[in-house]
Amino acid sequence: MKKIVLIGYMGSGKSKIGENISKNIGIPFYDLDEIIENVEQDTIKNIFQAKGEVFFRKKESVVFREFLNNNDNFILALGGGTSCYANNHELLNQDGVVSIYLKASIATLVERLSKEKSKRPLIAHLNDAELEDYIRKHLFDRGYYYLQAKHTVAVDNKSVKEISAEIE
Ligand code: S3P
Repeated sequence: MKKIVLIGYMGSGKSKIGENISKNIGIPFYDLDEIIENVEQDTIKNIFQAKGEVFFRKKESVVFREFLNNNDNFILALGGGTSCYANNHELLNQDGVVSIYLKASIATLVERLSKEKSKRPLIAHLNDAELEDYIRKHLFDRGYYYLQAKHTVAVDNKSVKEISAEIE
């Protein structure tokens, strides 16, 4: 039984890598954002718009904690902010939890996120120059929480296959 939790900034590859590891080792994969969307019957974008970020953060934390307590064998991709609110980072070091930080550089994140902004309410409104500035500051603030993970895997210039192999 394994509780594998993937954490990291938006665009660090949590979902793609989680799905790939799931196929390789036969442990079911879940994406916390998708679970929240199912619970709320709405998209993350709409939840932010209609109910605001504070509502989202509370829901995210409740859903994460419930999931962790009620499941035994899984790979779970968190949202980029999950481990940075409501002391959720403390859960990353629980016995039985294998927490892995997918560490991407600012350059990699800017490159990826400039093409994938629309579904992400925190960055959807930023142009490319603003995006880099935003990521630099945000990543600096969040680094403390990400580094609470038990393991860190650098993801720059590596394929999903290579990163998955390293984690496995
Ligand atoms: C967020 C990351 C998103 C999603 C929401 C907020 C964040 O998940 O939870 O838009 O605060 O970094 P991804 O990391 O999967 O994009």
